[in-house]
Amino acid sequence: MADKDFPMSGFSSLAIHGGHEQDPRYSHLTPIYAASTFVFDDAEQGMRRFSGKEPGFIYSRWGNPTMAEAEEKIAAMECFGIKHPGGAKMEAKGILHASGMAAITSLLLSTLRTGDKVLSHFSLYGGTQEMMDRILPDLGMAAVITDLRDLSKAEDVLKADPSIRLIYLETPANPTIQCVDIEALTALGKKHGKTVACDNTFATPYLQQPFKYGVDFIVHSTTKFLNGHGTSIGGVLLGRDIEFMNARATKVHRLLGGNANPFDAFLLINGMKTLEIRMERHCSNAMDVAHFLEKRDAVAKVNYNGLSSHPDNATARKQMRHPGAMLSFELKGGLDAGISLMNNLKLCTRTVSLGTCDTLLCHPASMTHYGVPREDRLRYGITDGLIRMSVGMENIEDILTDLGQALK
Ligand SMILES: Cc1ncc(COP(=O)(O)O)c(C=O)c1O
Repeated sequence: MADKDFPMSGFSSLAIHGGHEQDPRYSHLTPIYAASTFVFDDAEQGMRRFSGKEPGFIYSRWGNPTMAEAEEKIAAMECFGIKHPGGAKMEAKGILHASGMAAITSLLLSTLRTGDKVLSHFSLYGGTQEMMDRILPDLGMAAVITDLRDLSKAEDVLKADPSIRLIYLETPANPTIQCVDIEALTALGKKHGKTVACDNTFATPYLQQPFKYGVDFIVHSTTKFLNGHGTSIGGVLLGRDIEFMNARATKVHRLLGGNANPFDAFLLINGMKTLEIRMERHCSNAMDVAHFLEKRDAVAKVNYNGLSSHPDNATARKQMRHPGAMLSFELKGGLDAGISLMNNLKLCTRTVSLGTCDTLLCHPASMTHYGVPREDRLRYGITDGLIRMSVGMENIEDILTDLGQALK
């Protein structure tokens, strides 16, 4: 086990050792603490634990040793190498949730009050979009959606509507892979006294660290690249204001009951240890796939923020280590071509979700967005022949061979 004060100079060292504590029974890895509740030596210890005077676990909806290691590891990765202006190391607290949506719900309900609004971009993960459109209004809250890539428009909206309390970013965004400028939007938010949150699911802390730019909260669907193997659903809410996280955010999380569980936390901890090498391979494969697809006659357009043709290439280059492993492309043949490509795949996997070792392809028009009226999905850029791809870690020759034969 690494010493607590060992100065981790590399991201992988931190990803492997961060958050780990020696198990009292000397297990090499933190075990799956499959316990709903924890015992007290005596009533006085119970009192001290409930009053917060003594650290210790009480009940697994409130916290659990396996979940705590995952929380600390993600918080350490999101703060890796970041210092406050005075030179002190940045710290954050993470709260593990049952899913990315549970973490987003805790974020919204702990930061917003009745009458408040959240400002966001028009390209967002569908679940987040629906939460803003269908759930927030019933609670007397609302979303204002604009193109956050247009900073002067964003500032006009902020000036016009003082009830906006939270700016919610997702970059790169699902499913369009659009990027918004975290630094510029956070500066704008701070100028107008707003709280800023960022969904960092597509990038992961290895590629992008929103806390560097002063973002207040980060959310993740840990289901994706952080877990990396498609073995569990999970989410995390991270905040730099430790007092707020320990008080309001913890209260909301505990009372909503969207807690994670020790088994999924164990899978997540072990997945995260290889984040750096996985992301390096995912991203180099994605770049090769993007160049390959650009040259195919059947492909009308490739949306990958690593290509200079992508409108958000400069933003991606500014704030991401590599442009990521998510891309989408449009087939000239529309719906039929999309269905045919999906059916012709021999190596890559036909499925929704993203961030696993294998390459995943999804045809939104026949899958995730099958039930969405065509005009509505076209408005969000989801055309009949659009294919979304999470580029995996197979040997690149095999991915390209499969795509080549499936496109014929
Ligand atoms: C960017 C993004 N955020 C949040 C979520 C929701 O995460 P979960 O499915 O773990 O609830 C997803 C799911 O795909 C996502 O892609």
